[in-house]
Amino acid sequence: MPPILSPSILSADFAHLERDAGEAVKAGAHWLHVDVMDGHFVPNITMGPVIVRALQPLRRRTGVWLDVHLMIAYPDRYLSAFVEAGSDVITVHVEACPDPVATVKAIRALGVRPGITLNPDTPLAALDGVLEHVDVAMVMSVHPGFAGQVYLPGSNDRIAALRCRLDAMGSDALLQVDGGVKPHNALAAATAGASVLVAGSAIFKGDIASNAARFCEVLAPVAQQDRATAS
Ligand code: DX5
Ligand code: ZN
Repeated sequence: MPPILSPSILSADFAHLERDAGEAVKAGAHWLHVDVMDGHFVPNITMGPVIVRALQPLRRRTGVWLDVHLMIAYPDRYLSAFVEAGSDVITVHVEACPDPVATVKAIRALGVRPGITLNPDTPLAALDGVLEHVDVAMVMSVHPGFAGQVYLPGSNDRIAALRCRLDAMGSDALLQVDGGVKPHNALAAATAGASVLVAGSAIFKGDIASNAARFCEVLAPVAQQDRATAS
């Protein structure tokens, strides 16, 4: 299967959200990444369940998955609201959860695929005991809070190490990478083991269709390699 592209709508034009997000989907994005920030867990404030709800017509029309990244304190308080609004994946930060296993289990019990992520300076060992309960494990390749940052060196090593951990436990969870992903570093991230790539500014700044097409072009060799392995 080719890597999944998950454009972060944080960099879209909010006055034309459905149009911009729809263009990215039409150009090959199978997921849309929704960056939720609360001004506490991270210094920025962005959006909440109303935006997930506003994207439901596009979701119904195209089958795109809404990939919700909660950068908020007390995520447990808001899970039902994001589920009711129509999320497909909800990813929480291990640093924000007093009991991460309980939180990801609660997401699954609500009928949504759970994801777990961690800040760049949090050791991967923080995910011990949690990984077996998630469908998505995400490496943050920037310090969370803002779009448009530079991909941190060392992120590909963390992707490869996390993929090893997942493989060792027989998990088929998707490995996502988020932050500073551009056409010039996407192939290396995918080769290291990322199966879902989040990109915000690199998709929504400029021509959305050609930006998304460029990612698909760059990632095509990975898709071929995977298909060759599978056959
Ligand atoms: C960072 C967010 C990212 C970010 C992606 O806190 O979680 O999803 O907005 O944007 P770019 O691709 O511009 O780094
Ligand atoms: Zn994100």
